[in-house]
Amino acid sequence: MHLPTPRGPLTAALLERLTRPPHGFDAPAVPVASAVEDEDLQLALFTCYELHYQGFDGVDDRWEWEPSLLRLRGELEGVFERWLERIVPRPAVPSAYVRHALTELVTAEEGPSLADFLERKADLGQFREFVVHRSIYQLKEADPHTWVIPRLRGRAKAALVEIQIDEYGGGRPERMHSELFRATMRGLGLDDTYGVYLDRVPATTLAIGNVMSLFGLHRRHRGALLGHLAAFEMTSSLPNLKYGRGLRRLGGDAAACRFYDEHVQADAVHEQIAAHDMCGGFVAAHPALAGDVLYGAACALTLDRLFARRVLNRWERNGTSLRETGLTVSGR
Ligand SMILES: [Fe+2]
Repeated sequence: MHLPTPRGPLTAALLERLTRPPHGFDAPAVPVASAVEDEDLQLALFTCYELHYQGFDGVDDRWEWEPSLLRLRGELEGVFERWLERIVPRPAVPSAYVRHALTELVTAEEGPSLADFLERKADLGQFREFVVHRSIYQLKEADPHTWVIPRLRGRAKAALVEIQIDEYGGGRPERMHSELFRATMRGLGLDDTYGVYLDRVPATTLAIGNVMSLFGLHRRHRGALLGHLAAFEMTSSLPNLKYGRGLRRLGGDAAACRFYDEHVQADAVHEQIAAHDMCGGFVAAHPALAGDVLYGAACALTLDRLFARRVLNRWERNGTSLRETGLTVSGR
């Protein structure tokens, strides 16, 4: 993956340093504004996190643990976390009711339905744009939630691993969900190279991935990460059914639609495992963290709602939901 193009002073300073051997540096000033729409802040955070995943071409792997970079990452995380705390309510709930509360949270969600639009109205260009946004997470699908495995025990751990085994294809690389998504991208004439569209996606798309890395990389957020995954699984089956229908309407073949078809089936099962065994098992062992689980779920729903609103607003005005970089969204 290539280093992205800077979006402001923060990323200009950070990205220039990453091209050199690891060294200590003074953190550039971090803004305190609306974290989720701040292009510079979300890209800087994404870049710091990506060092823990696939890294970047030409960037020394030792940057991953460079103390001054971690200090900068901590400041960026602080801005993002404070924004989340302001926007997302942290419900207090007895641990015995977590499963019920998760269901209530998910069913009460009244975001704009991107899935309905994609099913019935989107044109091919809009569907492609949607897939470009999603590729930022989907090409590393399940990876952020894997960080929490060693932090769990017992029922919750077994349940999460059961979900992750499916995400990673059950031992068959071609069935990994990230691989199925690559087939969807190819079917739409898109480039399926990891991270190739990073410069095209806006801050709201990056924030969806960043919140998972934030929760995944900090043990103190382990409850929130489980709630986040549960919300993902519990809101997956029906939208994926609609995405699949939308793609078929636009001429997508079986291989291109398989990613969505697979999620209709798998996530109907995962939903139960995630809410009952994973979150239920976790809060039974850690009753004081029940609120964290719901908070993580609420964060997932909130960021997805903001993303959907932004995309639909742009499309309603006949614009593109992607960042204009002079590149067109097309195949290789
Ligand atoms: Fe999946």
